[in-house]
Amino acid sequence: MSLEGLRSEFPALVPREGVRPPVYLDSACMSLVPRPVIAAMEEYYREYPGCAGRSVHRFAEEVSQRFEAARDGFAQFLGAPDRAAVVFVRNATEAINLVGQGLSWKRGERVLVSDQEHNSNLVLWQRLAKERGIRLEVLSLQDDGSFPSDAYEEALERGIRLVSFFHTSNLDGRSLPAKEIVDRAHDHGALVLLDGAQSAAHRPVRLAELGADYYALSAHKMLGPTGVGVLAAQPQALGEVAPLMSGGETVEWTTLTDHALRPMPHRFEAGLQNYAGVLGAHAALRFLSAAGLEEISAHDLKLNERLTRALSGEPRLRILGPQAAGERPSIFAFALEGIDPNDAALFLDEGYGVMVRSGRHCVHSWYESRGLSGNVRASLYLYNSVADVDALVAGVRELIERIPAGPSPPSAPERPANEAATSARNSGGAARRPRRR
Ligand code: ALA
Repeated sequence: MSLEGLRSEFPALVPREGVRPPVYLDSACMSLVPRPVIAAMEEYYREYPGCAGRSVHRFAEEVSQRFEAARDGFAQFLGAPDRAAVVFVRNATEAINLVGQGLSWKRGERVLVSDQEHNSNLVLWQRLAKERGIRLEVLSLQDDGSFPSDAYEEALERGIRLVSFFHTSNLDGRSLPAKEIVDRAHDHGALVLLDGAQSAAHRPVRLAELGADYYALSAHKMLGPTGVGVLAAQPQALGEVAPLMSGGETVEWTTLTDHALRPMPHRFEAGLQNYAGVLGAHAALRFLSAAGLEEISAHDLKLNERLTRALSGEPRLRILGPQAAGERPSIFAFALEGIDPNDAALFLDEGYGVMVRSGRHCVHSWYESRGLSGNVRASLYLYNSVADVDALVAGVRELIERIPAGPSPPSAPERPANEAATSARNSGGAARRPRRR
């Protein structure tokens, strides 16, 4: 499938009477959903709204078969070593929690994270440090995007039980050298968890070859619905994990005093599942595969190179993380000197229809350690176009021009010059909108 012409498959991008079509540059938070995904979810509720793995009637048979086919789909999409080690959860956060809460920890065992982890891969370890006595170690990354191999080696030599890193950063789009990280951790007997929330949607992942013990992802960043995620694992590593939740479908039998757990993956999937969501996520995988992950990567990069070329020389604009687009293909994160990031995001939305994310991107610790209040992030995906990028460039240029440089950021920029766009949209004023994290 060519990426040209894909936009019409995304209802949120279809122009509506009197409303300027959105320039959606926030896919790292939540990607848009194409028609086949919506159709798959609707089909479930319309045609076979049963529960899987329980009843024997037609609806139940149909949904059971489709639910397991979705598991096969994820196993194949991720090149996972074994479909039985592909577990459906609510999101990447839950996948990480399943591993962290499910491993049995001895006091003093160490977990290594980077200093640029999303809260989903940080707060849990802080909690386990308090509750179970694990030791949380932090590897400081370099702002230029290079990986601190020596410091990593030193940390491993101190004895790490689990390395838990992002694969691709939601903050600046850099990717870590996952194969090197995994191989060296394994040489030291450590397990590796990769938070793949920002990577699996943008480039091919072959988990069997990569060797990461645990890989977490969210369907809502890969054209799927919210409320569906996957933990894919090496079977032996998943065997070390106890279920996070207990209940129906996880057991072979129960008595009033005891139970026997089913084999993986079912022991991890307690209670009725989000069948519509999982079937929608499977449709999303089919859509992504038809588009081609290599093509999507190349498309992200082409747009990001254009954006980077256009904005890297702008006064008062600083790109966060590696400067070359090739090292952060799906993300362009930037700070504007003297301009509050949330105000900048509102200005872009109201004046140019450009939706970006602003704030601290759930990586508060990183901003805290650098004394920064936040920044603006544009994230690119397969449905974005050159026109989208150009709209962002025009908006940022106007913003820089209109807001004088000064020591303290103004609370809200004035209305954008682009009044036609503004009046066509149902926008609230900047001052009335809440601050975001
Ligand atoms: N992880 C999401 C983001 O970066 C919330 O926007």
